[in-house]
Amino acid sequence: GSHILSVSQFDRDAISRILEVSARMAPYAARKKRCHVLDGAILNNLFFEPSTRTRVSFGTAFNLLGGYVRETVGEENSSLSKGESLFDTAQVLSGYSDVIAMRHPKILSVEEFSKGSTVPVINGGDGANEHPTQALLDLFTIESEMAPFGKGLDDLNIVLMGDLKHGRTVHSLSKLLSLYNNLKITLVSPKALQMPDNVVSILSNAGHRVEITDELGANLACDVIYQTRIQQERFADKAEADLYRGHFSLNKQVYQKYCKENTVIMHPLPRDSRPEANELDVDLDDMHNLAIFRQAQNGVLVRMALFALTLGVEDKLSEFEQPVHW
Ligand code: CP
Repeated sequence: GSHILSVSQFDRDAISRILEVSARMAPYAARKKRCHVLDGAILNNLFFEPSTRTRVSFGTAFNLLGGYVRETVGEENSSLSKGESLFDTAQVLSGYSDVIAMRHPKILSVEEFSKGSTVPVINGGDGANEHPTQALLDLFTIESEMAPFGKGLDDLNIVLMGDLKHGRTVHSLSKLLSLYNNLKITLVSPKALQMPDNVVSILSNAGHRVEITDELGANLACDVIYQTRIQQERFADKAEADLYRGHFSLNKQVYQKYCKENTVIMHPLPRDSRPEANELDVDLDDMHNLAIFRQAQNGVLVRMALFALTLGVEDKLSEFEQPVHW
């Protein structure tokens, strides 16, 4: 198997395959059946930045396929803090693993690490650069949320909103969306937090209609709104991040004023629940169109699929199926 470092490594056929295998993971993720196709395999989860969903869903996905998970959390608990290089760390830890998932605050750090690894390395987020597995689960979510409306991944009207400069999930998702046809993409953010030019170019070069704005309005009457968090950890300090809060708050009042009846709301989470953040109000929580927790749950399916594909067992699932005994 090969590393998963960037969404740019996938074409539309590869994505279809990932989404199709992800859907086949549903009965195992729902504990209706077991599938221990990775019996005895070892995942090392290396998280040098905080994470709830990515780390735990990688681990859960691997466990659901029968594998063991070991974790290193925080650079201070690793010999990286003694000056060991990512390359040497990879040489050592890949000897202990069948696959490695890693998150690190530095751009391209996971790629650097992968050069020293003898086993597949999966990028769980490298600084503000990329978060490929999140973008894949986002795409899976868009596909499954649009299906009831008879829509696929082409011809959609999608709003990406928030801290588009630092949000690595929207960078990766935009690259994936460039593989589809005839999209309208509206990029809503404060001017200082606009989507990087190279990502805008990728979307325009794909032939999509791209609109850049700092205002919420009629442009929210779309199929999907993808809200993001102010990435406070990428700013000099909290005071600087606070300057931009409230510029793109999504709450029920805004939703009812501007959105369509069926506009689906997504967010990679975590949602910043501090009152001053107010990026995605809890008053939306009773709406079925709020897909955020289905989206997070889809992370298990997609990460199961990525492990199965990376380790080459995606066609053996039914062979290793077992009943649930509890
Ligand atoms: N969406 C996401 O990456 O969440 P975590 O930071 O909790 O992993």
